[in-house]
Amino acid sequence: MIKTTNKNIKKILLKKELTKEDIIILLSSDIEGRNILYRKSAEIKDKYVGRTSYYRGLIEFSNICSKNCYYCGIRRDNKFPVRYELDDETILSAVKFAFENKFASIVLQSGERNNNLFTKRIENLLKKINKLTNSQLGITLSSGEQSEEIFRSWRDAGAHRYLLRIETSNKDLYYKIHSNDDKHNFEKRLKALENLQKIGYQTGTGIMIGLPFQDYEHLSDDLLFFKNFDIDMVGMGPYIEHAETPLFRFNKMLMPAKERFNLTLKMIAILRIMMKDINIAAATALQAIDPIGREKAIKIGANIIMPNITPSENRKNYRLYENKPCIDESAEDCTNCLEARINIAGDNIGYGKRGDSKHYFNRIAL
Ligand code: 5AD
Ligand code: SF4
Ligand code: FES
Repeated sequence: MIKTTNKNIKKILLKKELTKEDIIILLSSDIEGRNILYRKSAEIKDKYVGRTSYYRGLIEFSNICSKNCYYCGIRRDNKFPVRYELDDETILSAVKFAFENKFASIVLQSGERNNNLFTKRIENLLKKINKLTNSQLGITLSSGEQSEEIFRSWRDAGAHRYLLRIETSNKDLYYKIHSNDDKHNFEKRLKALENLQKIGYQTGTGIMIGLPFQDYEHLSDDLLFFKNFDIDMVGMGPYIEHAETPLFRFNKMLMPAKERFNLTLKMIAILRIMMKDINIAAATALQAIDPIGREKAIKIGANIIMPNITPSENRKNYRLYENKPCIDESAEDCTNCLEARINIAGDNIGYGKRGDSKHYFNRIAL
């Protein structure tokens, strides 16, 4: 085993490419070592994407989901959340809020459904949003795995970006947190991600950090997976247990929440060093552990923040994990609150700018 010394860390940070072993050493760094890592990642953020964070107004438009991921609070078999689907008018009024407040981008997120009624509805909704905003908003969709044809129809209707977290790039671990069946198939998920990239979306993925059975090797492989895939955007956050889910029974195996949090920050910092021009989100789950968690992520490398603009009355039913922040706040509350916080973290907000992934344009120009 290679010893993790600060000298070692400094040496690794001078390298052009990081190996799996290098990443494992960085992930195991102590407080002093991780501060060296954070200084480097902040420097790279400054240089390549600048000290601007971009808003994505997050609209969780439906918590109805046909899947049963073992970790998720809104999984199909969970009887507790009241299921909802926002109507077009409500969604459009949230879109208007984002547009008028110069957010410049929105994320439409929901559980996964594959029926025609749902997929057509999204297509129509996208057209309405573009009409309302003169096609000026950056639109990210996050509604799970769909056929290539559906992905294309949504792209044609005006979606620019798509988020589909791989959750873990390790197949064995994937099947520890999902059942192994047609609805939860690792190869299919990978294929869906490849299709998104092929169709021309700015493609985003991500993982959860601190899952039961997960180790540094898995996490190191995840970062290399993002790099090899040439991904444009990444959102990764700590795994947070939810009592009404099957994965909860492995709770005793988890590292303390604070450690999951610190590990997430290290992952973000290393990723920024490995992929200098991508967009990295400061995941909301960070704030479930540390009240200024998202700001800490912004400081060391993240550049995207997703203020929740879902109508307040629905937020409590979109609880993927426990302690989800901003459940009782309104869109205005979160917006005002966030700006001050981000300024403290050293960033301005890119009001009126879409903040597309620079990596995407560099990638397609090649
Ligand atoms: N803890 C943290 N993140 C979670 N997600 C779902 N459940 C949890 C949880 N318990 C994440 C998944 C999913 C995204 C929408 O939310 O990564 O892709
Ligand atoms: Fe559905 Fe996504 Fe939750 Fe899985 S993680 S159950 S696909 S909402
Ligand atoms: Fe929601 Fe601060 S970001 S209340």
